Amino acid sequence: MGKEIATLMVDGCEYEVIIEPHMLLIDVLRDKLGLTGTKYACGAGDCGACTVLIDGKPSLSCLTLAVMAKGKSILTIEGMTTGCELHPIQQAFVEKGAIQCGFCTPGMVLSTKALLDENPAPSRDEIKSALAGNLCRCTGYVKIIDAVEAAAEMMRKEG
Ligand code: FES
Ligand code: FES
Repeated sequence: MGKEIATLMVDGCEYEVIIEPHMLLIDVLRDKLGLTGTKYACGAGDCGACTVLIDGKPSLSCLTLAVMAKGKSILTIEGMTTGCELHPIQQAFVEKGAIQCGFCTPGMVLSTKALLDENPAPSRDEIKSALAGNLCRCTGYVKIIDAVEAAAEMMRKEG
């Protein structure tokens, strides 16, 4: 099996890209589509920096072959904003000081979205468990958990 032209649905847009069987989703997102918000760190499934949502589920794009994402709906951090407006989760991360270098933030925000889509009022333990695969080297986790709680509240109010 060689190169193929694949259709990928990313952030609500359809892209036709030439992919090879060994190509990782993160490389296609960053290098072919220019969506560099998805971060590459460990490359081994340990840190969660590369998390995107595939059909609503957090997925490590550094371990996912691009061909496996054909026909599925991929959400990256670029797809979280509406025009210039931040998503409430992003807004809450900013307001609660849950971002320092920001390298872990896209993955954190997407894992949070998957959690809140399923569970709009999670406990702190449920938040910890949903973000267990996302590592942060800077902020510690208290402000991140505070931000997720604040985002949940904002989203419940917005209905
Ligand atoms: S870069 Fe994918 S889990 Fe660390
Ligand atoms: S803010 Fe720097 S790794 Fe999380």
